[in-house]
Amino acid sequence: MYNLLKGKKGIIFGALNVDSIAWKVAQRAYAEGAQIVLTNAPVAMRLGEINKLAEECNAPVIPADATKNEDLENLFSKAIEHFGGKVDFVLHSIGMSINIRKNRSYAESVHEDFIKGMDISALSLHRTLAAAWKLDALSSGSSVLSLSYIAAQRTFPGYGDMADNKSYLESITRSFGYYYGKKNGTRVNSISQSPTKTSAGSGIAGFNAFYNYAQKMSPLGNATADECADYCITMFSDLTKKVTMQNLFHDGGFSYTGVSEEVMEMFMDKE
Ligand SMILES: NC(=O)c1ccc[n+]([C@@H]2O[C@H](COP(=O)([O-])OP(=O)(O)OC[C@H]3O[C@@H](n4cnc5c(N)ncnc54)[C@H](O)[C@@H]3O)[C@@H](O)[C@H]2O)c1
Repeated sequence: MYNLLKGKKGIIFGALNVDSIAWKVAQRAYAEGAQIVLTNAPVAMRLGEINKLAEECNAPVIPADATKNEDLENLFSKAIEHFGGKVDFVLHSIGMSINIRKNRSYAESVHEDFIKGMDISALSLHRTLAAAWKLDALSSGSSVLSLSYIAAQRTFPGYGDMADNKSYLESITRSFGYYYGKKNGTRVNSISQSPTKTSAGSGIAGFNAFYNYAQKMSPLGNATADECADYCITMFSDLTKKVTMQNLFHDGGFSYTGVSEEVMEMFMDKE
């Protein structure tokens, strides 16, 4: 370990179980010397898994539904009280599409559920940043990250309305990144991660095909949840102070590969 987050205090959303990307980020942040607060939707807490992580990381758990402004304001107030000061980093690791959960195709998305999914997966980032803004909860030079997927730029059948949610998430990242940069040097970025075997990932129809295809296409192979956690730590650290408003691909090179030899091999005419 490098003590990269020594003395820093952060809030981590979205650790549901040991597979969650947020779970790995929490473990890694704690190992790098950070003090953390864990949060998730009250309904997710009923599974109780998060308490194990809380014990391991010596972190309080403060429930918050990320679609409720009052929950988010309560979270930031309590976190500031617990830390005895402002928050230095935030991980927004939240995503859910009701249309995908109900196996509806993109064309048959139900719009009420589209809006709910967008609120959970994208607008929640705005709500989080706005709650912190109202309470002046983020320290100068702090760092906020959310997690995205390349379906924001390119179409992946089966990813449904989550593609639109991720585009919206990346847009909020840029917009709020501007205002926060001006306010106090806070950085706001998204990390666009490889397909990763988690509860949210496995809920996507054809997830295995996305995963295997990306594995064959990416020169470095798919990035794991642990590797994503490593990247998040660098972004929370003081080593990346001038990176903001970016969507950062963490995908083993998938996003810039036209085709790989392994994939070409599958389409060669056999003589
Ligand atoms: N797994 C992948 O293949 C992959 C790839 C790229 C990006 N991502 C993104 O990474 C992030 C984390 O997902 P994951 O793969 O670790 O899966 P996960 O299922 O472990 O995490 C999703 C989290 O969102 C939380 N959540 C849902 N509704 C909420 C609400 N109303 N308020 C607060 N929290 C709520 C869930 O409780 C859960 O903890 C998501 O944004 C996801 O889209 C995942």
